[in-house]
Amino acid sequence: MLKRLSKVVNEERKLAVGLMSGTSLDGIDAALVEIIGFGPGTKVRLLDFESTSYSVEERRQLIALCDPVSSTVEKICKMNIILGDRFAEAALAVIQKAGLTPEAVSFISSHGQTIYHWPEEQATLQIGELANIAAKTGILTVGDFRPSDMAYQGQGAPLVPFVDALLFSHPTENQVLLNIGGISNLTVVHAKNSSAKEISAFDVGPGNVLIDGAVRHLTANQQTYDLDGTIACKGNVHYDLLMMLIQEDDFLAVKPPKSTGRELYSEQRLATILKKAENLSLSIEDTVATITAYTVEMISQSLELYVHKEQKIHELIVSGGGAHNQAIMDGLRQALPYKVSRMDDVAFTGDAKEAIAFTVLGNQFLHGETNNLPSATGASRNVLMGKLVLPS
Ligand SMILES: Nc1ncnc2c1ncn2[C@@H]1O[C@H](COP(=O)(O)OP(=O)(O)O)[C@@H](O)[C@H]1O
Ligand SMILES: [Mg+2]
Repeated sequence: MLKRLSKVVNEERKLAVGLMSGTSLDGIDAALVEIIGFGPGTKVRLLDFESTSYSVEERRQLIALCDPVSSTVEKICKMNIILGDRFAEAALAVIQKAGLTPEAVSFISSHGQTIYHWPEEQATLQIGELANIAAKTGILTVGDFRPSDMAYQGQGAPLVPFVDALLFSHPTENQVLLNIGGISNLTVVHAKNSSAKEISAFDVGPGNVLIDGAVRHLTANQQTYDLDGTIACKGNVHYDLLMMLIQEDDFLAVKPPKSTGRELYSEQRLATILKKAENLSLSIEDTVATITAYTVEMISQSLELYVHKEQKIHELIVSGGGAHNQAIMDGLRQALPYKVSRMDDVAFTGDAKEAIAFTVLGNQFLHGETNNLPSATGASRNVLMGKLVLPS
């Protein structure tokens, strides 16, 4: 075992596949990257990217699995294996897309699919069995990062800010990297010449999760998300409802470090919001516009409360599926006094960012280097997060 491991670790240049499936439950993102070095000297290049959508039925089953009322141990046990195989297929697909074979790849690093995140209890569950990924691909597999941070009193989230701080730092300007997945999270990346040391990063609140849910319900599953923000752009924001949603959202006042998920922005929460919109006789467009504005408002108010008072920001760089939503991007540009860009225009396709980040976390793990950011997760120390499976 040690021979195989040390061979991978000692490679000057590694090819790795990062696998990510987030709270949106939209599908599996697989990024094939080249990694050179580790720690502050890490260099990463994206070679290929492939996203595999979950089917409507798979998504329905996953949503049910995230809800303690409809979930069962049997269903979780089975889905853990199904997703392990699906993750393996996603890895093989991106390798094939790049014209390579699995032998060329040093390791896979998989986030897994969160079905429950419970930071108050230092508990979280990501499924997608690592043993199946390793067996099906024949590639050394790393994953299941979050519990290690939690074992040291951390929230096990957010994890990507460690990579943001490692890879993105402007010589003179402070930037905020915002990822709008199911949940929105942000990292304040200080300029290289800044004297600030502590990196601030936290989950902000809803990203697409409520927008997707509203679109699904209001179109009777004909649409699973608001493509390019078209529905929201046609509607008008109902400001009284918007204010009510913000006031009712206790997460805004929680001071960072903080993390959240579908446990808070749940199907039940969505049902309450949709009921309010229905009582106001709002059209589909106005309802989606208002829920989209809620996402934007949570981001801009969080920046105001926890970031702008501490430092001057020059640019906000947006990644994740929400960067494709015109209503979100327009809303952010209106709300913020500095440049709002898309990751696609700055570095690489923003859809691949989190999958890429997990290759960096896996690479750190294989080098025996810590890979959490205690200022973001609240852990009591730097932690070496991850678990390893070697294929037979
Ligand atoms: N073209 C698009 N227009 C609007 N929203 C989009 C588009 N593409 C993706 N999205 C949104 O992004 C979500 C997926 O984002 P992603 O970054 O994968 O989140 P997660 O990490 O939670 O899976 C989708 O559910 C959808 O809401
Ligand atoms: Mg996704």
